[in-house]
Amino acid sequence: MTLYLTQEEVESLLDMKGAIEAVESAFREMALGNIEMPPRVYLHFEKYNGVLIAMPAYIKPLDAAGLKVVTVHPDNPKKYGLPAVIARIILNDPAKGEPLAIMDGTYITAMRTGAAGAVAAKYLSRKNSRTAAIIGCGVQGRSQLLGLCEVRPIEEAKVYDVVPSARKRYVEEMSGKTGIDIEEAESVEEAVKDADIIVTCTPSQKPFLSGDMLSPGVHISAIGADTAAKRELETSVLTRADKIVVDFKPQAFIVGDFAIPLKEGAIREDDVYAEMGEIVAGLKPGRESEEEITLFKATGLAIQDVGTAYKVYRLARERGVGREI
Ligand SMILES: NC(=O)c1ccc[n+]([C@@H]2O[C@H](COP(=O)([O-])OP(=O)(O)OC[C@H]3O[C@@H](n4cnc5c(N)ncnc54)[C@H](O)[C@@H]3O)[C@@H](O)[C@H]2O)c1
Repeated sequence: MTLYLTQEEVESLLDMKGAIEAVESAFREMALGNIEMPPRVYLHFEKYNGVLIAMPAYIKPLDAAGLKVVTVHPDNPKKYGLPAVIARIILNDPAKGEPLAIMDGTYITAMRTGAAGAVAAKYLSRKNSRTAAIIGCGVQGRSQLLGLCEVRPIEEAKVYDVVPSARKRYVEEMSGKTGIDIEEAESVEEAVKDADIIVTCTPSQKPFLSGDMLSPGVHISAIGADTAAKRELETSVLTRADKIVVDFKPQAFIVGDFAIPLKEGAIREDDVYAEMGEIVAGLKPGRESEEEITLFKATGLAIQDVGTAYKVYRLARERGVGREI
């Protein structure tokens, strides 16, 4: 029998704290060599400005294995009122192969990515970080702020989006959800000025954050660019950062933020200080001074999905949630 979980059921089982635990543990197991994660496979729907990505992973100590199928169509919210990112996850029993569960992966994608930003902030931002800047007021902009509020004493956020109505909706909704003071900014510069933590989470193909906008001690999590065509960071952000941390080196160097500066010769692969898992596992230190500028680039890993989905599956079984199919 296979358990089917809808988005509402997944939402009732997973909170940000749970997602952070699952993602932190998945990063750790990756650094310890306890996972299997082949490269993702892409289908490109050029005429529809969309992609389909297949992402399998196996986390051995958990005996959690599965596959996420996710589509990314940035025009969806405006054109169809659908999320830009839509996903399903299948979990399989590694012992027998049978599917244990099929579940909505859209909410898990949002939460596990917010959790990756939170894990990065936990190890790389200053402990007393109080001010966040969020660039991109969509799904990710929401889960990134929820994640930051779990790990740092955030009191204030400044948010910017190219679409003014998106900023407005964000302020109304997220002020209530987080209880912190959230203000709209009129530009990226205004949002990031004085921020302790900057999160970029847009599908932009044109970089908008530059090195001269960064203050000493700031931490940046760059989330949005997850294909070769997308780019949020000017090369000067990478050359200004004291520590560059990525989720997975081979994936980081194929997204626009890193692939373009690499091609221009402005950075080398060994300019990356660590993969996030190495810091979580204690193999390398995270932040070491109040002044250093740290940059985390998330591309999104199948182990984050499988680790989080497995947690949801266990909770569903414990609480009798879902439907057998
Ligand atoms: N790294 C990861 O693991 C990961 C995971 C999920 C999504 N993503 C990526 O994150 C990005 C955002 O995803 P989402 O689900 O939040 O999308 P979304 O459509 O819900 O929100 C994106 C927001 O960014 C705004 N925007 C676009 N260009 C901008 C710019 N130049 N400056 C400021 N705002 C801008 C849009 O108006 C929109 O409000 C996408 O590129 C998506 O593929 C990455």
